Amino acid sequence: MPVIFHSASRTFHLFNPFYSYLIKLLPDGSPGQLYFGPPLTDREDFDRLLELRNRPLQVNCSPQWDCFSLDSVKLEYPCAGTTDFRRTALEVSQPNGGRTLEPRYLRHEITPGKPKLSGLPATYVEEDSEADTLTLVLLDEPTGLQVSLRYTVFAGHAALARSVELENTGAAPLTLTRAMSFCLDLPESDYQWMEFIGGWGKERTPVLRDLAPGVTSVESVQGCSSAQENPFVILKRKETTEFAGEAVGLSLVYSGNFLLQAQVDSWETTRLMGGIHPEGFGWALYPGERFTTPEAVLAYTRSGLNGLSQTYHTLYRSRLVRGEWRDKPRPVLLNSWEAFYMDFDSKKILSLAQSAADFGVELFVLDDGWFFPRNDDTQGLGDWVVDCGKLYGGIRYLSGQIHAMGMLFGLWFEPEMVSPNSRLYENHPDWIVQTPGRQPGIGRNQYVLDLSRKDVENYLFERMEQILGPGMVDYVKWDMNRCITQPYSGALPPHRQGEFYHRYILGVYSLYERLIARFPHILFESCASGGNRFDPGMLYYAPQAWCSDNTDAIARLQIQYGTSYCYPISSIGSHVSVCPNHQLSRTTPLYTRFGVAMFGAFGYELDIRKVEELEYKWQIGLFKHYRSLLQFGDFYRLKSPFEGNIAGWMVVSRDKTKAIVGEYKILAQANAPYRRLKLAGLKPDALYSVVDFWNSRIPASASGKFNQRLDCYGDELMQAGLVTTDNSSGNTSQTELDQGDFTCKLFYLEAQP
Ligand code: GLA
Repeated sequence: MPVIFHSASRTFHLFNPFYSYLIKLLPDGSPGQLYFGPPLTDREDFDRLLELRNRPLQVNCSPQWDCFSLDSVKLEYPCAGTTDFRRTALEVSQPNGGRTLEPRYLRHEITPGKPKLSGLPATYVEEDSEADTLTLVLLDEPTGLQVSLRYTVFAGHAALARSVELENTGAAPLTLTRAMSFCLDLPESDYQWMEFIGGWGKERTPVLRDLAPGVTSVESVQGCSSAQENPFVILKRKETTEFAGEAVGLSLVYSGNFLLQAQVDSWETTRLMGGIHPEGFGWALYPGERFTTPEAVLAYTRSGLNGLSQTYHTLYRSRLVRGEWRDKPRPVLLNSWEAFYMDFDSKKILSLAQSAADFGVELFVLDDGWFFPRNDDTQGLGDWVVDCGKLYGGIRYLSGQIHAMGMLFGLWFEPEMVSPNSRLYENHPDWIVQTPGRQPGIGRNQYVLDLSRKDVENYLFERMEQILGPGMVDYVKWDMNRCITQPYSGALPPHRQGEFYHRYILGVYSLYERLIARFPHILFESCASGGNRFDPGMLYYAPQAWCSDNTDAIARLQIQYGTSYCYPISSIGSHVSVCPNHQLSRTTPLYTRFGVAMFGAFGYELDIRKVEELEYKWQIGLFKHYRSLLQFGDFYRLKSPFEGNIAGWMVVSRDKTKAIVGEYKILAQANAPYRRLKLAGLKPDALYSVVDFWNSRIPASASGKFNQRLDCYGDELMQAGLVTTDNSSGNTSQTELDQGDFTCKLFYLEAQP
């Protein structure tokens, strides 16, 4: 059992092959944190790790403990109003106006498996043997608030899932004003804080800083997880690299307003916590009611940032993503957006689709512009009526034609929005998010529908159900193109307005859940002006997410590299687009655009009819041949595009017998330096055949027989590196592919039997 309770010392030992996590009930009955780190040999007590020191200015928990203050011990779930003056995880407004809470141990349960979180996305298990869950129940007697701290230890992942359930077992109503998903107090503060920030077109840029005394945080109060700050943070040691060293990951399985923070106190301990952002939050909890926080997934590694990322990749790919598309090869898609924007008709669409089908594309996605009236983004959202002027025969006919070409058919929606000049808004002006008496704010010419209302959710379900119809649509791109202002729901009483943001996101989750139940075969891809809502919550419903509206391959090197710190590449929507690129006007060779996009949920987003027929066929064939390796293998970051002129990454099959390596040169240099790319994850003593894809141009169908290959042992490839110096470095026999800016090398490795 990975959870043991030592009753004499009142200590819980949660462990698996990757970590130990120790909780001890303190003298007053609140749970204290003793340790989170590499696995420890189990023993009856770990009391030496509990330090109750008398500190100047300390306020003791009670006269009976003269050197025990919550302020100087490490806690599991600190509450407001106590002797702990650091940031707290729980604050509750009580009928008398007070907010002090002192929940004490009541009981605990250790159960095999992992319970579901009702209405919320969460990691899951398929067999009870995959995990054990500790539920630690605390009670605040005066209010009757019961606090259940949940910890799931996965047997096969270096991850710990946490969430909290709050139940009002008292007689009076309470209001939760802060209810974090977890708190973790660490005994040291010599960490670096790595966050993933950005904005539209530059999502998830890693930023590293030394943790300093005081509070460091990332957050969103936009109603979505946001492109500005992602609900994921890494705490690493200074010496930790991509390949070695200690790191802790904090990831919130949530798509709404969030807060992740670290607080370093005067004794150089670090308090980490995260959950729903408390700003504006207030949840009324009446007697008998329960509230469940979103899940947080903590991870621990000693094998560097790649090790930490792989923990999240494997867990999220296999036990967060659900449904038949979890394990099925993802189809190569072609999306119409950058090909036509909204300027199309059936003829254009079908001719594009036919070329796509001829080249081997498997899924044709009709993006924005298929409904009426929608020739620009000023109108059309909300009614979801097919524009039969543009699309002869409507969706049914079009999808039939696409299916007849042998492809799946996908459709764009932006369910959460409404245009002001729509019938929906005319009939239900009260369905938008707005504060009474104020001019509603507009963004991208649209209002946000109040998804906290069941009637809105029901309307959207019915409209979408009709269009998705039986078997007509195989894929949905679910977009969301503006953030929420004036948070307020006309359907909630004044004292419940603090619930709006969370109820909104619960409504989004519920609509997704109903559509998934109704159409289990549909592959959902989430999107929010690119990557404005790229988070684990969304991955529970949509196995892939459009990573960024910025499709420039060189910009994508950074965006996909940054995104990969938490998210598996199978979830990172990435497309080959036209040049000059529509966002940056940069011209990048087609093979480089392919070489970047293939490390993701791969597709095209351009008028594929125009050029390069043979090249597309070759690329698509090649991708299909290696896609299961790319989709299910272990991803390693090798060289950061944020740090120099060369970037590199690779994917290794789980049995380490196959690998694909991508190496990218950003700018050409005269008389350029020698280059070696140190690979990772290989078997040191296996002899690998290394094939340069471009130079050998292996036919996609040929497996194992290559024109040009190099044989190298894994240790040489990892320790000495793969020589990648290109011909622009002085060699006279110049290869065209190596010339100029923005070049790419792709290698395939296969271990010889
Ligand atoms: C957003 C998406 C794009 C595209 C457009 C359509 O910007 O991120 O990919 O779907 O909307 O309006």
